[in-house]
Amino acid sequence: MVSAMAVSGLGFGQKAIYKDAGAPVQQRVRDLISRMTLDEKVGQLNQVNGGVLTGPAVANDPGQQGKVKLLKEGKVGSFLNVVGAAQTKEVQRIAVEESRLGIPVLFGFDIIHGAKTIFPIPLAEASAWDTEGALKAAEIAAKEASSMGLHWTFAPMMDVSRDPRWGRVMEGSGEDPYLQAQLAAARVKGFQGNFDENHVLATIKHFAIYGASEAGREYNTVDVSRYAAWNYYLPPYKAAVEAGAATVMNSFNLFEGEPASGNNYLVNEVLRGKWGFKGMVVSDWASFGEMMAHGYAANETEAAIMALKAGSDMDMESGVMRNTLAQSVKDGKVSEALLDAAVARVLELKFKLGLFDNPYKYHDEAKEKASLLTAENLAAARKAAANSMTLLKNSDNILPLKSPKSILVLGHLAESQNDVLDFWKGLGDHKNTVTVLEGLKAKYPGATITFVKGVNRDGKLEAGAEAQIKAAAKKADVIVATIGLYGDLAGEARSLGNPEPSKGQMDMLAAAKLTNKPLVVLVQAGRPMIITELMTKYNTILYTWIGGTQHGNAVADILNGDVNPSSKTAMSFPVSVGQIPVYYNHYNSGRPHKDGNEGPGDFWVSRYRDTPNEPLIPFGYGLSYSKFEYSDLNISKPEINQNESVTVSVKVKNSSNVDGTEIVQLYIRDLVAQPVRPVKELKDFKRVVIKAGETATVTFELPATKLSFYDADGNTLLQKGDFKIMVGPNSRDLSEVKLVLK
Ligand code: BGC
Repeated sequence: MVSAMAVSGLGFGQKAIYKDAGAPVQQRVRDLISRMTLDEKVGQLNQVNGGVLTGPAVANDPGQQGKVKLLKEGKVGSFLNVVGAAQTKEVQRIAVEESRLGIPVLFGFDIIHGAKTIFPIPLAEASAWDTEGALKAAEIAAKEASSMGLHWTFAPMMDVSRDPRWGRVMEGSGEDPYLQAQLAAARVKGFQGNFDENHVLATIKHFAIYGASEAGREYNTVDVSRYAAWNYYLPPYKAAVEAGAATVMNSFNLFEGEPASGNNYLVNEVLRGKWGFKGMVVSDWASFGEMMAHGYAANETEAAIMALKAGSDMDMESGVMRNTLAQSVKDGKVSEALLDAAVARVLELKFKLGLFDNPYKYHDEAKEKASLLTAENLAAARKAAANSMTLLKNSDNILPLKSPKSILVLGHLAESQNDVLDFWKGLGDHKNTVTVLEGLKAKYPGATITFVKGVNRDGKLEAGAEAQIKAAAKKADVIVATIGLYGDLAGEARSLGNPEPSKGQMDMLAAAKLTNKPLVVLVQAGRPMIITELMTKYNTILYTWIGGTQHGNAVADILNGDVNPSSKTAMSFPVSVGQIPVYYNHYNSGRPHKDGNEGPGDFWVSRYRDTPNEPLIPFGYGLSYSKFEYSDLNISKPEINQNESVTVSVKVKNSSNVDGTEIVQLYIRDLVAQPVRPVKELKDFKRVVIKAGETATVTFELPATKLSFYDADGNTLLQKGDFKIMVGPNSRDLSEVKLVLK
């Protein structure tokens, strides 16, 4: 080992500036860079998929040994997927003690909705419209993750998407830019806290506009206008930058024909230029190298230069920077100053986390043990899951089930510990999860609970299922049947052309219905499915999404009424696949159509001939055991100027005898604008607890700035004229008043 002092040529007693905790970070960064070789600089931009790097596994694995060798040579800036306090500590020790300059590594991992205690998938969490809850969930995830030696999560994902065929809709907060932005900002704050050893760095991803992948197909092309980009897709990323996110991840897709990883407009002009982002940009997995497959870069040398010039910094796993960048600098193809700027951004993060001064602060095994799956974390996950589950139908008032004596539970998903976790389950272990069956048993200890599988994991009807259901139902007061998709179908590379319940699942439900017993259907999936037939035929439907570790307890909390459901879907549910994309904030078109007006005058209009225009379930929809009635929508004044705001108020009465929580939503429409504006845009929401029989007056402060939008260059426009202000329980059932902007 060569000490830094020997390297710098400093005499004994003199410390290299970069090692001096008292020196300003910028000075330390400059000092360190001045000591680095070209290879070491490029090394800081190299992120390697680590896996297990210590212990006997490595001794027999040349591939893993090679990664440790790179580390010792100072050629790894960050590892992903190296985890656990003990392992990360040893790897950090090698970096700090056995590499020439002793630069600590950053450990990154996809902590998407929990580390060990898995919270509901983010799309489900979004349906709770609860920014404080999302912040808390991220905070808990960060606490667990950081105790396992991690510095950095690749989350939150904030890709606005209107396409439930895309398996990754589960990772984000749905179709609306405003809701997505609020949650993205909350999650960034929850993950990062004050950049201490109980938190992790957040990543804004995927930058940008990955949610618009054509036809919901993973890794596919994106082709949207700048106007759409600025108004629909970019606001959440911007909000997350403003919330202080430390890093950004490129997306896989093209924007304007150029891969996001090498897209100067997105990274340099928008992110770093207009938004002033000072942090580090990491590629998505191998996305620098994929610029070759896109047909954008001819070879690795070009790809690495394009990424660097566009403003991206760290190469996750493609190796193009490691393989070529030093040579490109030597050949004068790219300036060393540009390389230094990227390296500085990586080093700054390491200084900011205090890793140079205390490299082992995240690696404490005792703390790790004490931090994971605590009672407090599990309680928070249970609450979050229950708040995320959306009641879609309760027409026979079967729910809540107060004291059933016997319950027949159906479907593989009800007993599967694996399937309450998705592909992005972090470090979650199915052994720690609670299934629906277990949740119900715990909730109703006095009841007889019988299970008939009915369908398997793939949704195929089991042999003899119908007869078994018929026989078992005789002794049951109520049937609880689970259908949907197995957990691993939610996540990356899980696009589906037909996200429908299977024939076997529908047959199972039909058999259950034939018994004439009260029937509760639970739909478990990481995306809105096409449930048109289900909604027509069945009267009690709870969309549970994927609830994580506490899924089964959360379901039971809702079924027996300990939790009154309040969730409202953050994505529209299409009537059919052919309707996709269907979303509430669409433009009016020159020939608008309203479902129901199918008279002779409604032929040459924008509509399908075999399908309605409206979705099956609108954005923002969900029921409660309470009944809420809206009245008296008012604004404090009919006209405002550009510097003013208006108070919007509405009365919401809980006319039931159960206390409940209502998510009150405020939308606007700019009636005449250049360019045109959507028919509805969410601008605010409030979660309000309203006691049985009481009426709440819910008020919103609406500043004129919320009436603004972007032009195609990202400039803010605030145009005078008439607006509709709409308030209600979902994006469809709204009352409206007029507001004039002078
Ligand atoms: C995904 C990212 C993820 C990365 C690292 C990629 O394939 O698109 O979202 O953070 O892998 O696991």
